[in-house]
Amino acid sequence: MKVEIEIPKCCGVEAPVMVIMAPVMVVDDTGCGGVRQTLRWSFDGTRSFGSGRAIVSDVFSGGTDTTSASIEWALSELIRHPHIMKKVQKEVTEIAKGKSMITEDDIQDMPYLKAVLKETMRLHTPLPLLVPHEAMDDVEVMGYDLKKGTQVMINGWAIARDPTIWEDADMFKPERFLNSCVDFKGFHYELLPFGSGRRGCPGVQFAVSINELVLANLVYKYDFALPNGARAEELDMTELVGLVVRKKDPLLLVPAARF
Ligand code: HEM
Repeated sequence: MKVEIEIPKCCGVEAPVMVIMAPVMVVDDTGCGGVRQTLRWSFDGTRSFGSGRAIVSDVFSGGTDTTSASIEWALSELIRHPHIMKKVQKEVTEIAKGKSMITEDDIQDMPYLKAVLKETMRLHTPLPLLVPHEAMDDVEVMGYDLKKGTQVMINGWAIARDPTIWEDADMFKPERFLNSCVDFKGFHYELLPFGSGRRGCPGVQFAVSINELVLANLVYKYDFALPNGARAEELDMTELVGLVVRKKDPLLLVPAARF
C-alpha cells in the first residue's frame, strides 16, 4: 500500500514534514513561491527520491529560533511586569522546595508559570503567519471561493490579539488563562501559535516542555535586572519582522543568584 504526501514549498525553503519520525524523504529543490513536490512514501520504508538531511534541517529550523524567541519574550514581559515576576518566582520556589533543579514533574504543579508562557505565546506569536498553506482542491471558506493551488496565510497574530475575543487584548495578563480551558495545541481556534490540524506543529509538546523547564529554572535561580540601572518601562519591545518574530534589540539582563 502506498501513500502520497504533498509538501508545499515556499521561497526555496523546504516546508517541514509532519511525519518526521516516519521514513519519509524530502527532495532538495530550488522551487520558489508555491511550487509543489510530491513525495512517495511506502509503508515498507523504501523511498523513491529525496534526502533525509532536509528533514533534520526542518526540525532544526522549526525548533530553534521559535523556542529561544519565546523565552526571550517571556523574560521581557516578566521584567516589564515585576509583580508577575514575583508571583511566578513564588510559585516555582514553593514547588521546588530547595532542590537544585526544577524537573518536568514539578512543572505540573505550576499553573501560573504555564499561564505566563501561554500569555507570552498569545501576545508574541513566534510564527505570526504560521507556515504557508495551499488549497489542495477548490474550496469555499466563509463565503470565499478558493481555487485549488491558492496559497493561504493564516494570521495567527491577529487572531491572538482580536479584541472581540480577548479582553484587554494587547495587555500581558497571564491570569486570563488560570480558570480557562483554552489551550494552544490546535483545538482552540482563538489561540493557534502552533497551528492546527494535520500540518500543525509536530514539536508542540517538546517545545512547551522545554520552554516551561527553561523559564522555571531561570526565574527560580536568578533575579534579573536591566543593565545600567535602566527602568523596566524603558525596555524596547519593538519586534523584528521575519518568519520568526524576535525582539529588535536582543534582551540584555544582569542575573543575580537568588540563593
Ligand atoms: C515555541 C516553539 C514553536 C512554535 C511557536 C512553533 C510553531 C509552528 C507553527 C505555527 C507551525 C505551522 C503550523 C501550521 O501552519 O498549521 C509549525 C510547524 C512545524 N514545526 Fe513548529 N513550532 C515550535 C517548535 C518546534 C519544535 C521544537 C520543532 C521540532 C523539534 C518544530 C518542528 C516543526 C515542524 C517539522 C513543522 C512543520 C509541520 C508540517 O509542515 O507539517 N517546531 N511550528
